[in-house]
Amino acid sequence: SRRITVRDIAAAKARGEKWPMLTAYDAMTASVFDEAGIPVLLVGDSMGNCHLGYESTVPVTMDEIAVLSAAVVRGTKRALIVADLPFGSYQEGPVQALRSATRLIKETGAGAVKLEGGERSAEQIKLLVEAGIPVMAHIGLTPQSVNAFGGYPVQGRGEEAAQQLLRDAKAVQDAGAFSVVLELVPAELAAEVTRALHIPTVGIGAGAECDAQVLVWTDMAGMTPGRVPRFVKQYAQLREVLGGAARAFAEDVVDGAYPAPEHAFH
Ligand code: KIV
Ligand code: NA
Repeated sequence: SRRITVRDIAAAKARGEKWPMLTAYDAMTASVFDEAGIPVLLVGDSMGNCHLGYESTVPVTMDEIAVLSAAVVRGTKRALIVADLPFGSYQEGPVQALRSATRLIKETGAGAVKLEGGERSAEQIKLLVEAGIPVMAHIGLTPQSVNAFGGYPVQGRGEEAAQQLLRDAKAVQDAGAFSVVLELVPAELAAEVTRALHIPTVGIGAGAECDAQVLVWTDMAGMTPGRVPRFVKQYAQLREVLGGAARAFAEDVVDGAYPAPEHAFH
């Protein structure tokens, strides 16, 4: 069986089929999602927050994305792997974007890259697509711009912002993106964008009418500590499960209950 490709993704929209996407940052977790049939895995720069202990996605480097993307590719057989272009790896212009994207595709085996920005990133998307690199765009709330946004506010509120989001969506489609993430956008506007485009929209905090939905896996599985955003649904309480396992192990070691005779060699 072969990997999912961007052609399969295009065919899904034509058939009106919705699909799920999750982030992944390591081979073993990625293999779980691959075996569960998740067709697209994003090695997101959310690794900054979820995997590397940074406070935002801003410090994430090309080397970090490359190492973890290669691990996710090695851990999977079926999923399309999308590698995120980190902050600073494509903002200088199309040539820098092509250099960065080429490196990720060659070094990691990922099947596509993702970058942030609508009209402002259209030239980058165009050159990558011309070079044969499938591009997923990302508009609405673009976390690499956290310092400009002053946080993570919902985007596209008000007529002017809504029109800009529609222009951004059209711009990335015209530039050749095979899909576009809509992050933190009112559901009605995300639905309008989804109807206006022939490429699939991938929603996160963007309501039910997007063609696909993405979540950060640690949010989805209840691994992220503290409060999770309103748009997240937790499908497990992994933090509790894993913490419980660690506490039980610790107790057994302290009590001498582990290892038992059957765990020892004689
Ligand atoms: O880095 C990431 O996890 C993302 C998704 C939230 C779309 O960009
Ligand atoms: Na990202």
